[in-house]
Amino acid sequence: MSDQSNDILEVMRTCIAMRHLRTDEVPEQMIVDVVRAATYASNPGNSQNWRFVVVRDRGRKERLASHVRKMLGARFVAGPTGDESRDKMMAGARRLVEGFADVPVWIFVVGINAYPPQAPNESFVWSTVYPASQNLVLAARAMGLGTTFTTFHHVAPDEFRAELGVPDDAHIGTAIALGFPEKKFTAVNRKPVSEVIRWERYS
Ligand SMILES: Cc1cc2nc3c(=O)[nH]c(=O)nc-3n(C[C@H](O)[C@H](O)[C@H](O)COP(=O)(O)O)c2cc1C
Repeated sequence: MSDQSNDILEVMRTCIAMRHLRTDEVPEQMIVDVVRAATYASNPGNSQNWRFVVVRDRGRKERLASHVRKMLGARFVAGPTGDESRDKMMAGARRLVEGFADVPVWIFVVGINAYPPQAPNESFVWSTVYPASQNLVLAARAMGLGTTFTTFHHVAPDEFRAELGVPDDAHIGTAIALGFPEKKFTAVNRKPVSEVIRWERYS
């Protein structure tokens, strides 16, 4: 597949949020492979307090979608802002909300609040979830799969928790849409590094 790449820097450079996904099924082995890559991530004390809830069932996706649409649908009625890049992003986000149940795979990266073992601190949940999520996204891109990092579950946390069976000592950190891309991977649009790098001291 031409969209695959083993060049890590090229993968990072072109790992855009792919909000346009084909509805084709993603082979289970590919899903297992991206989750395995997620588990290669750095994490607090190698506690590996993460779980990856893979959702493919249409009924479950529809139930989750109804919460997302109810809470976010109104956000998109404002129309174009004139900022082309923002409008493009919002159009993609809208499509993802409306087509939530058509996304072939949703992966919810869950962090268990169990680190350090003697005095669990919730901040470590997020330090567990984010590197793993980024690894997952990059691995998917390397394999020619598109993803979008989202936090859609925050719109209805109790409903998502109940639907996904997440226990009280764990938190859903990210909701990642996964599927074959409908569009080409293009370069991410970022500030020049010269604007963000500081040598030795911030100022
Ligand atoms: C923590 C986090 C939450 C995000 N939530 C959403 C979201 O809810 N919906 C969405 O469409 N994109 C979401 N994104 C994707 C960002 O909007 C996107 O990465 C950013 O605009 C840069 O675009 P690019 O990744 O295509 O370069 C999220 C990204 C991160 C890191």
